[in-house]
Amino acid sequence: MLTESFKGTKRTGYCTDYNIKNLKETVTVCGFVQKMRNLGGLIFIDLRDRSGIIQCVFDEADNDALFKKAEPIRSEYVLAVTGTIRARAEGMANKKMATGEIEVLATSLKILSVAETTPFEIVENSKVNDDLRLRYRYLDLRRPDLQANIIKRSHAAKIIHDYFNENGFLEIETPTLIKSTPEGARDYLVPSRLQHGHFYALPQSPQLYKQLLMLAGMDRYIQIAHCFRDEDLRADRQPEFTQIDMELSFVEIDDIIEINEGFLKRLWKELMGVDIVTPFPRITYKDAMERYGSDKPDTRFGFELRNISETVRNCGFKVFKDAVENGGSVRGINVKQGAGKFSRKEIDSLGEFVKTYKAKGLAWVKMGDETTSSFLKFMTEEEGKALINALDGEKGDLLLIVADKDSVTFDALGALRCEVAKRLNILKKDDYRFLWVVEFPMLEYSEEEGRFTAKHHPFTAPMDEDVGLIESDPAAVRAKAYDIVLNGTELGGGSLRIYNSDLQARMFKAIGFTEEEARAKFGFFIDAFKYGTPPHGGLAYGFDRLMMYICGEDTIRDVMAFPKVQNASEPMSGCPDIVDEKQLEELGIAIKD
Ligand code: AMO
Ligand code: AMP
Repeated sequence: MLTESFKGTKRTGYCTDYNIKNLKETVTVCGFVQKMRNLGGLIFIDLRDRSGIIQCVFDEADNDALFKKAEPIRSEYVLAVTGTIRARAEGMANKKMATGEIEVLATSLKILSVAETTPFEIVENSKVNDDLRLRYRYLDLRRPDLQANIIKRSHAAKIIHDYFNENGFLEIETPTLIKSTPEGARDYLVPSRLQHGHFYALPQSPQLYKQLLMLAGMDRYIQIAHCFRDEDLRADRQPEFTQIDMELSFVEIDDIIEINEGFLKRLWKELMGVDIVTPFPRITYKDAMERYGSDKPDTRFGFELRNISETVRNCGFKVFKDAVENGGSVRGINVKQGAGKFSRKEIDSLGEFVKTYKAKGLAWVKMGDETTSSFLKFMTEEEGKALINALDGEKGDLLLIVADKDSVTFDALGALRCEVAKRLNILKKDDYRFLWVVEFPMLEYSEEEGRFTAKHHPFTAPMDEDVGLIESDPAAVRAKAYDIVLNGTELGGGSLRIYNSDLQARMFKAIGFTEEEARAKFGFFIDAFKYGTPPHGGLAYGFDRLMMYICGEDTIRDVMAFPKVQNASEPMSGCPDIVDEKQLEELGIAIKD
């Protein structure tokens, strides 16, 4: 079939620009065919553009030639339809559609492009499997729900530009080909053609550059920045993602927090019409771990952790006693009135669940009509009572306990309280519990590397009170670092930075870098601090994670136009891919089998 040229066509508006107020107007709309129905004598075509759908009518009695021209039209054909807006026939109005009261009586039609049958239907809430969706992402992106996400993301970008601009931030781009500097995750490397054996890295974040911009006197910087980390994918993690990245001079933590609370308030209000209450609560890292077993706690529900080590220190149940004796802890959660909601089988499956967090088992007390338990038989009645008291156990409650080294009890119970809440179906998506987690430990010991590493990054400033401990008790040093957490997800994180060379040298030493090593890795950066350094600090959000919440999605894939899949490939274009021998030669690279 011959398609026609677009030349001379002038679109008058988007499909949903029109309603009952536009009766009798002549319009031209352009888009894809959502649906075509030939009722014999009348053809109805639902035409779809990014705004939504409008119904176009071809009436054989009115225009025989045009009717015939419309007959071969199929789904996803691309059309330009000119016609007159008229009210739908009596009883045919569709209140659910923005254009549901009207239709376009076609007076002319251009078939601009034909379409083969698509591999899946272009409909909302498609149940098609992810691989197929991502292979044909351009079709997937035609779906109204994904389009709504992408459009919302664009609105968010506009708010970001506006808000930070109004607050005196400069938008400055930083390079994508940079020096590889260790910063937590694995770097993506790009070989140099002009210097064989030398590599650029793609930035894990613009961290060093944004600090250098402060040293350059830019005072306030913001960038919507692409970042690259060669790490394993998860629902809220992609190898290539976007940060809303900022840095500010002459500020303290409160200043940064205030600006960012204002920003989130504006985003939620403008994009969702939701008023969020500021200031957000702040919790120290230590409290977050003690109460929630996590440094990104979901505070939409209770089931807080309790440390019952002292209560069970000398009890008859060996598992508990040994854990405490070996320097670990026994902790539990009380699933209030949960006894009736979890069968024995379900409790066993919770036991399997905690094993994925390295717990050896899950001890439980089910306080139903009668009290049953996996371990009370190993204790005296008094010891049992003391334990139940320590967890505020009352009739109807379900007590769940893990004994292990601290890191395991925190991890296992932190995940368990969320799993229990999920199974109880008490998590509301539109209940937004923001909070700041503050006073992170500066350093953490890496068993793998046999040394302390920076928990945030090595440029994070220690808390003034703890500076004296850097050499004597590195594990106890707290950092001027903060994370913004929403409903169990780390949306963003940042810190005040070290701006004093001596302190920086002590930090490097604490993480086991000799002066030479520090110089080799960060020499240019260390030198820059010699020429006058304003106190500065900043923060970066995962833009994708923010949008995941704003769009109510469960994965960041659904708010990214072209995401990658589990093995970090992109099914549509088929990258990563092999390259020509000639390309490798130019780069001086040989592939090992
Ligand atoms: P951080 O490493 O905490 O801090 O990153 C900031 C935020 O980026 C998001 N994020 C990711 N999102 C999707 N996929 C990923 N793989 C991924 N990795 C991180 C998270 C995270 O909170 N330069 C510092 C910030 C600073 O100190 O100013 C930094 O990058 O939401
Ligand atoms: P057992 O006598 O081995 O059957 O253990 C009794 C109960 O203790 C079972 O419910 C186990 O799941 C539980 N249990 C075993 N190890 C631990 C542990 N480290 N923490 C909590 N409960 C445990």
